Amino acid sequence: MTASSLRYLKSHKALHDEISGGAEEQLESMKTLLNKLEHKELAEEMGAFIEYVEESVLGHAQQEETPGGLYDSIERDDPKNVEKIRRLRRDHELIQVMVDRMKEELSHDEVDFQKLIDHSVSIILVDEIHSRDEEDLLMED
Ligand SMILES: [Fe+2]
Ligand SMILES: [Fe+2]
Repeated sequence: MTASSLRYLKSHKALHDEISGGAEEQLESMKTLLNKLEHKELAEEMGAFIEYVEESVLGHAQQEETPGGLYDSIERDDPKNVEKIRRLRRDHELIQVMVDRMKEELSHDEVDFQKLIDHSVSIILVDEIHSRDEEDLLMED
């Protein structure tokens, strides 16, 4: 999406929903694998989930934060938005921190899979709350 098309609610929200839907689907399959104690396959799925979050969620975040992009233009529109954008940037940062922790955990010899599932749930939840707050700042189309 281009910076200007990101300003519009309908298309931007559709993108959020598509991204979170994909993450939720992966989470469901990871939960199933955890219940079945299929740890080898689960480790692969976790790797795929991390990649997905990096490409989709954080890739999208990077596009929003790009200089002269969406966030800069929302801040320019109204000084009252500066604090709101600061919080949205912090949400992106938190998702990055959680992804980094997941990578760290996954690199251990003895992986705590429940911890990884908990992190996945948290990422999806923060992303969902973040998306709704962000959508409040977009233009009806
Ligand atoms: Fe965002
Ligand atoms: Fe967004």
